[in-house]
Amino acid sequence: MARSAVLCGLGAWVPPHVVTNDDLAALLDTSDEWIRTRTGIRQRHVIGDGLSTVDLAVEAGARALKSAGLSEADYLVLATTTPDRLCPPTGPEVATRLGMTGVPAFDVAAGCSGFLYGLQTGRALIAGEIADTVLVIGAESLTTLVDPDDRGTRPLFGDGAGAVVLRMGADDELGAVLGVNLHSDGSLSELITVAGGGARARAAGDTAPAHITMHGRATFAHAVKHMEEVTRQTLAQVGWDITEVDHVVGHQANARILHALAKRLGLAEEQAVVHIEEVGNTASASIPLALHHGVVTGRIKPGDRLVMPAFGAGATWGAAAMTWPQLEI
Ligand code: COA
Repeated sequence: MARSAVLCGLGAWVPPHVVTNDDLAALLDTSDEWIRTRTGIRQRHVIGDGLSTVDLAVEAGARALKSAGLSEADYLVLATTTPDRLCPPTGPEVATRLGMTGVPAFDVAAGCSGFLYGLQTGRALIAGEIADTVLVIGAESLTTLVDPDDRGTRPLFGDGAGAVVLRMGADDELGAVLGVNLHSDGSLSELITVAGGGARARAAGDTAPAHITMHGRATFAHAVKHMEEVTRQTLAQVGWDITEVDHVVGHQANARILHALAKRLGLAEEQAVVHIEEVGNTASASIPLALHHGVVTGRIKPGDRLVMPAFGAGATWGAAAMTWPQLEI
């Protein structure tokens, strides 16, 4: 019988420092009203006090391991677009800080779809009999990449981390990740970029700082279209009708994207789990943070059927379908 990946642990952590829309409105030509109505964001958590991506990942990873009742996993996959340094990868440092020295640990960079790419990697490691347990962490410090003077991007992003533990199991167990579909299209690479600091900029002698630029309207349109398509593809793969889905736990880039997606799928707006209000866009961390929010607020319950779509820089996109397990978190 095929070995399935079953989610058996969940953890989340955001740095304590909060920046509200009003805080930003005191610094930039923007307002709480514009940010809330255009994006759904009310505040974001921001690293400071010497914290960085490794610290966020360790906090979320430790909580996920505890939730799973494990002291370590066979593999660690860290999904991040904001590694602490270009070299070394951040995953090994996270593993060692979690007491997992010696365990294979690596970074996966897939923009805002990073968590789904990490999940599929963990699932494949389990299905391929390479690992029995995998810790998948999504951790980001995106506020370090925004131009502090750019009102178009600074309000959107936040810092945080979420993590899950996958274990070997069977498709009929609650928590089974039943289907994942991933895609990419490099012809859309200019939608969201951080050029500064990369090899292309260095080769050209360009010393501009590393700042996010995003073509917001075009990204919005591609996000809704591709997230709808990949959600339908994933539901067909696992044999679920849309009416059997309880929650859409999508990448949190904009509340309007999540509501538009629910509508296009024929679901009620309330079936979209929206957590962006409190944390902003946290890229690879956003789906596990939204899962955690859904569980602690009592919305996501054991036995619920979830679909989790994302779209991000690359362009990359994908979706996962799973049933929700009984967890200690
Ligand atoms: N405060 C006030 N005004 C702002 C603003 C801010 N923070 N940011 C932009 N504006 C202005 C713009 O300058 C523009 O003004 P103009 O019409 O005078 O030129 C106007 O608001 C509309 O800008 P636009 O960028 O078209 O707004 P939008 O409705 O598309 O919303 C985003 C912008 C970024 C919130 C939205 O496009 C979005 O969410 N895009 C998708 C993001 C995404 O999916 N990312 C995925 C992976 S990261």
